[in-house]
This record gives sequence, C-alpha cells and structure tokens, in this order.
Amino acid sequence: MQLESLFSKLRRLLSRLDRSSARLLLDGLRALAETGDPGYALQEATRIEEWGYYSEPKPRFPGFHHECRGRAIPLPEPMRMSRVDVLEAIRSRRSRREYSGEPLGLTELSTLLFHAAGVTGYELGWPMRTYPSAGGLQPVELYVNIVNVEGVEPALYYYHPARHALCRLRDPIPPERLTHICLDQEHVGEAPASIIITAVYARSASKYRARAYRYIHIDAGAVMQNIYLAAEALGLATVAVGAFYDHMLCEELSVDCRWEIPLLVMPVGRRV
Ligand SMILES: Cc1cc2nc3c(=O)[nH]c(=O)nc-3n(C[C@H](O)[C@H](O)[C@H](O)COP(=O)(O)O)c2cc1C
Repeated sequence: MQLESLFSKLRRLLSRLDRSSARLLLDGLRALAETGDPGYALQEATRIEEWGYYSEPKPRFPGFHHECRGRAIPLPEPMRMSRVDVLEAIRSRRSRREYSGEPLGLTELSTLLFHAAGVTGYELGWPMRTYPSAGGLQPVELYVNIVNVEGVEPALYYYHPARHALCRLRDPIPPERLTHICLDQEHVGEAPASIIITAVYARSASKYRARAYRYIHIDAGAVMQNIYLAAEALGLATVAVGAFYDHMLCEELSVDCRWEIPLLVMPVGRRV
C-alpha cells in the first residue's frame, strides 16, 4: 500500500477514535517505529491506561457461535472418572505425535470436548465452563475435523457446548490438506480427529477492546491444557500445533479471520 494512502487511512481512523484509544494506537505505532517489533507494539497498544477503560460487553450473553441449524448430533455422556489422578496427569503429560491408526471412540471424543470447554453449570442464566475466561465472556470455540471416529460420519463439525452436541458444517478437511496447512507437519494428517481451537475476538473485545487480544490467548491456553490433561487421563495422544497458515485455516473453517481467530490445531488419537 502507498505510504500516503496509509497515512490518510490512519488520520481518518484517529479522528473516529476516543482519546484513550487513539493514544494507545499511537503508542503502539511509536513502539513499532522504535523497535521494528510488532509484538512489542501490540504489548504497548493493549496496555491498561486508566480505570474505566473497559466498556460493558455487548451482547451481554456470550452466546455460541453456530446454532446447529442442521441436525445436531448429541454426544454420549462424557466419562466422569479416569484411572489417572489429575496430579499424575499433569506430571506425565507430554506432546505425543504418533497415532495407532485405530479409530477414536465417540465417548472418548465426547469426554475430550466436554473437559476442554463444556458447560458445567449456570449462574444467573450465564453458562459456566471447564476453563476460566476473562470477564466470563468465553471467546473460545471448538471445531472437530473427524476422519475416523466410531459411529460418526467423517466431517468438519462445530462443538456446541450448551447442547454437548456436534453440528455438521461440511465435508472433512482432507488430512493431506490439514497437514499442508500446518506447514506440512505429517503427524497432523495421521490423527483420526483434530480439534481446532479458535477465539471469537469480537466477543472479548466487546468489553476489553484491544486488550482482549491478550486475554483470548490466555483463555485458549487453558482449553489447550484441558485437552492435554483429558487426553492423558484417557491414555490418548495429542499435541498443540500452533504453526499453520492462518488464512488457509480460516477459509477451511469459513470464519472471518479478523474477528474469529484460529489459535491451535490439536490432532488426537490412540497411542501406538
Ligand atoms: C503454543 C504452542 C504451539 C506449538 N506448536 C507446535 C507445532 O506447531 N508442532 C508441534 O509438533 N508441536 C508444537 N507444540 C508442542 C511443543 O513443541 C511442546 O509442547 C514442547 O516441545 C514441549 O514438549 P511437551 O509438550 O512434551 O512438554 C506447540 C506447543 C505450544 C504450547
């Protein structure tokens, strides 16, 4: 983009922002000019300046992303107990990149999804989840690319936490395509299923504005660890994959990358 047109866009943008937001944006740009490091620029542009910076979230209810317009596939009751104690699971957790080639059981998948981000109760009509979330806004969404899971048609699904059900979105992302999107990491395409973690940035930003960009990653990290520990409890293999071509993944998920951001792909399967 021509520098001049960039400047005029910036001028127009600044005239629309309130003073506090404009100052943070300029501080971010200053940090970028001084260090050339977008990470530091982001840190500066998302710092808390003064109390009262937050606005009320709109809409108040976090909502769920897809309402399962098609047929929702109810998941079986998730397991309540495992033979692995939580302290033991934390201690033995490892990133595991080899899968046996057997299908994953539906109850195993149900248990992983529920413990990752399921609804564990309601307070004043507001869903409470298995993961902590800044402002309770719950920006994390889960998709599952199913290739080989007992009793479910291979497809790309959305996990509906309130219904504990799968919503079919489309045919599965072919394993070789998912491998390619993840920078040709072959282990990704070898798993019978992959959980894809996204965050609806707009949902958290409705309260925290740009600082939400920090919070969504922290929320998603908690979901990631839930998946690691649930997999450990079930004796399954999984790994967090953060290296992928963002825009290709957004396209496969049919999400707008600006407002719903893919954060991790987690292939999951039986251990060899
Ligand atoms: C944010 C994040 C991104 C990661 N991305 C990848 C990845 O793209 N590919 C991969 O094989 N492992 C990836 N990993 C797994 C790390 O390589 C792994 O956690 C690290 O080597 C430590 O091993 P451990 O998990 O067994 O303790 C990622 C982990 C995290 C937390």
